[in-house]
Amino acid sequence: MTDPIIEVRGLYKSFGSKPLFRDLALSVRRGETLTILGGSGCGKSVLLKLLIGLIEADRGAILVDGLDLVPMTEAELLPIRSRLSMLFQGGALFDSLSVAENVAYPMRRQPRFSPGEIPGRVADALGVVGLPGIEDMMPAELSGGMKKRVALARAIAPEPEIILYDEPTTGLDPVSTRRIDDLIREVQRRMRLTSIVVTHDLPSAFLVSDRIALLADGHIRAIETNEQFRRSSDPAVHTFLSAMEVSP
Ligand SMILES: Nc1ncnc2c1ncn2[C@@H]1O[C@H](COP(=O)(O)OP(=O)(O)OP(=O)(O)O)[C@@H](O)[C@H]1O
Ligand SMILES: [Mg+2]
Repeated sequence: MTDPIIEVRGLYKSFGSKPLFRDLALSVRRGETLTILGGSGCGKSVLLKLLIGLIEADRGAILVDGLDLVPMTEAELLPIRSRLSMLFQGGALFDSLSVAENVAYPMRRQPRFSPGEIPGRVADALGVVGLPGIEDMMPAELSGGMKKRVALARAIAPEPEIILYDEPTTGLDPVSTRRIDDLIREVQRRMRLTSIVVTHDLPSAFLVSDRIALLADGHIRAIETNEQFRRSSDPAVHTFLSAMEVSP
């Protein structure tokens, strides 16, 4: 469990003259579920996108299983990207594609999947998220919660080693939220993968994670097991938790 699958060191990222990350370090253990908390605009989504090479770092190292993404070309990134899936904030289904085509999309771009096996994998993934048989529906016909579950099916279908979830429950009612939390845990148990979850939902964080991190002031300010995090003496953690607990 101490063997890191993701190791970020000395990471710097600015947009224009505005520094976002300064000397950020993060180590994610193989097989764990790590939740990242932090205020709006602190860089949670940017951090996830850096981890899959969708945004370029200014400086530093981002090691995935020992391989540094930072100096890699697009072509070199492809095989690494196929080992990770990301559930984008807002779900981000392609509106003009059916559910089946949406779920199949990442697999069609990876040579390790033969075209013949993809429909079966799509059906299996939709079954896992509790939406069997909806292959021919279009995203416009789905509720917000169903869209998130289809996006989750798309993320798990290629059986990645790492899943990055960007606010998987934001905007959902409490019942749908718990359902997504349960699915995240279920997927975790079934596939024994490593997950990073960005959320504003504290109960979700304590339910799904092994450890919780606070991103603040351009770096990972604290990273602890759930219980240690809850009792942290770090004033930044304390302030953040109190603010979250009083807000709806
Ligand atoms: N491609 C980009 N170009 C310029 N600035 C960007 C870009 N992406 C993000 N930013 C800026 O970086 C900062 C962090 O954005 P990010 O989306 O990571 O925040 P976040 O922590 O995910 O917030 P939220 O909780 O609201 O989703 C913001 O100030 C944002 O405007
Ligand atoms: Mg975000």
